[in-house]
Amino acid sequence: NGKMKVGDIAIEMGIKATQLIKALMTNGVMGNVNSDLDFDTIALIVPEFGWEAQNTFKTADEIVVETAFGNLEAELVIRPPVVTVMGHVDHGKTSLLDAIRNARVASGEAGGITQHIGAYSVTTEDGSLITFLDTPGHEAFTAMRARGANATDIAIIVVAADDGMMPQTAEAISHAKAAGVPIIVAVNKMDKPGANPDRIKQQLTELEIVPEEWGGSTIFCEVSALKRTGIPELLENIKLLAEVAELKANPEKSGSGLVIEAKLEKGKGPVATILVKDGHVNVGDYIVAGSMKGKVKSLTNDKGERVDTVTPGLPVEVLGLEGVPAAGDRFDVVVDERTAEEVVGVRKEQAMAENTQKKMSLEDMFSKVTQ
Ligand code: GTP
Ligand code: MG
Repeated sequence: NGKMKVGDIAIEMGIKATQLIKALMTNGVMGNVNSDLDFDTIALIVPEFGWEAQNTFKTADEIVVETAFGNLEAELVIRPPVVTVMGHVDHGKTSLLDAIRNARVASGEAGGITQHIGAYSVTTEDGSLITFLDTPGHEAFTAMRARGANATDIAIIVVAADDGMMPQTAEAISHAKAAGVPIIVAVNKMDKPGANPDRIKQQLTELEIVPEEWGGSTIFCEVSALKRTGIPELLENIKLLAEVAELKANPEKSGSGLVIEAKLEKGKGPVATILVKDGHVNVGDYIVAGSMKGKVKSLTNDKGERVDTVTPGLPVEVLGLEGVPAAGDRFDVVVDERTAEEVVGVRKEQAMAENTQKKMSLEDMFSKVTQ
């Protein structure tokens, strides 16, 4: 990663290695023919011989961006917004999504607790699409809420009207703020006798989430997932925010996006749910997700249907990766297997370098403690 041996540098410049070693010594760097020099040292020493050093080392992210293919100049088109539903445990996130999708997931979940990120795209009345990510509200799932917030364009914070602001409500809000995404507050369970939306508005004001009708900028929607009321207004507001954000993508180039979740499944091998943010993914494409590569064997959409291609803003389940990537990893379609191998190689090297750095600083600390 950007390092070169003294002997090789001398050959490149057409000088003797001893000349280079001498020059290094006068600059206070001791070495021999086999010493590795880092880029900064090389850049400092080669001008003495009339040369200039250029760092051609590329990060994995740079390689995938530079090797993107397809129609790179195609006109950008509006893509569906990605909306993450977050909030305290049991405040009705999954039920609200069920109401929006006219489905029933919440009642089928083990113990009624969501344990993973679900991704669904919904066709609204005017035919436009919205992609929703469901997240668990249990306190153990902080990382999933953070990941959801990062993958998203809009955050819906669900607060039960009879319960009010709770620890994971505040935590979800801080994830959304950290990710810089606009927030809509859905005050749920409005059908309950103790429902008190004003109390929630008051509580959230303390977190600088101020409702529009109080002079702030946050939209509050009063809903009941159970009675299915207030849903059209909520969807309308999502569309409004999405329009303002002007979410556009080029569906004609090679795909990229994020891994939402991945696991090893019996009989299937590594299964990854990915969210395409730009470009498209086809069956048969070479793909890199984090430091895992593979060739797309199949794509299955959120309705369980096999598809040949996925466009921006949509989630899909991918088979064909050789290993399980980490949730939150970026993925890219790459032009061929060789590029896939190169990208994976660089990512692994980067990870190793970070590991040794961590180890070294631990050793430093240890030696300081024992001194
Ligand atoms: P986690 O994913 O575990 O964090 O929970 P959740 O936020 O997804 O909540 P879920 O949708 O599983 O609902 C929790 C409970 O609240 C269930 O018993 C629902 O039936 C109930 N519930 C959800 N929405 C409403 C509503 O609008 N009114 C009433 N009365 N009950 C609701
Ligand atoms: Mg849930």
